Amino acid sequence: MTEAPNAPLAAAIARNPALVREISEHPERFRMLTGERPTGRLHVGHYFGTLQNRLRLQDLGVELFVLLADYQVFTDRDISAEIGQNVLECMADYLAIGLDPERCTIFAHSYVPELNQLMLPFLSLVSVSELQRNPTVKEEIRSSNRPQVNGLMFTYPVHQAADILFCKGNLVPGGKDQLPHVEVTRDIARRFNERFGAGKAYFPEPEILLSNAPLLLGVDGKKMGKSLNNSINLGATAEQTAKLIKGAKTDSIREVTYDPDQRPEVSNLVLLGSLAAGQSPEEFAAACADSGGAGLKKAVTEAVNEFFRPIRERRSALLTDPGHLMSVLKTGNEHASGIARQTLTDVRRLMGTDYYPLGNA
Ligand code: TRP
Repeated sequence: MTEAPNAPLAAAIARNPALVREISEHPERFRMLTGERPTGRLHVGHYFGTLQNRLRLQDLGVELFVLLADYQVFTDRDISAEIGQNVLECMADYLAIGLDPERCTIFAHSYVPELNQLMLPFLSLVSVSELQRNPTVKEEIRSSNRPQVNGLMFTYPVHQAADILFCKGNLVPGGKDQLPHVEVTRDIARRFNERFGAGKAYFPEPEILLSNAPLLLGVDGKKMGKSLNNSINLGATAEQTAKLIKGAKTDSIREVTYDPDQRPEVSNLVLLGSLAAGQSPEEFAAACADSGGAGLKKAVTEAVNEFFRPIRERRSALLTDPGHLMSVLKTGNEHASGIARQTLTDVRRLMGTDYYPLGNA
């Protein structure tokens, strides 16, 4: 029987409540891998969308691996001149929000060669047509607006499989759009185990932890993006934040309500304010129902600046010592490298490419 194309999604949705329970009961069973491309600054959308959830998992006792996916930057842009600074600022963001290097390994592709080498055997385990069909790759290609698609873009889900499996990560948090990638990783893990595992499951089949985080839009009402100039960065000052929110799109209805379908821009501001204030969007909207657009913006600005003030203070302090930030990254890179080296040694043995024993070298 052929499965319906959305069967993996249905399975992930059905599995999620039990997975959430298992994580809180046995956090030690999980190793979570996630990360981002250092293409710009992290913003409030990242915070409420994914970073906050990482902190929650860290505090529960899940082991975290956070990847600065620098090779993935080159799938669709060339920003070599900025990448180092982006990495530094991301490190400041991570530590400022509370990722704890004692419990969380922060590392970058470029410094973990054995991770990248895993991509070669993994490429042999997927077909070209599977890659062509991947909806997330299709979407990335479409939105990158480039005349040509490079090979790294085309194969990046395989690279992500290496990102996850090098450390035997078994948990990947993400939205529905990340599911196709996790599915590729599961396929690769399963195929590797079948072909080379000698009856054992060497790699785990990682699971997606579906996020229920609300999606924040940019101040222009479009998707909030690191490189779209429409985001409130974690490192923005209180004044910059006020200015961005002041310039945000609203509508001409005076009453403030939360109605994402009919009033997306106003509702987006309400949502942002409510997340920062720790209220429901309905409560936040009710509190400034009669204040009009200007009053809403003032309330959102206050809530955001209040919430991020301590994070921003820590962030500025951290950035006065770039050497410390880079040494934290270096420690993370070394930890990840040790694990990747062991995995590659095992993979060589399983694939029959460890030749030295023939000569007893
Ligand atoms: N693709 C992610 C992004 O766009 C970054 C990333 C790279 C990632 N490898 C990963 C996320 C593995 C989760 C798992 O920012």
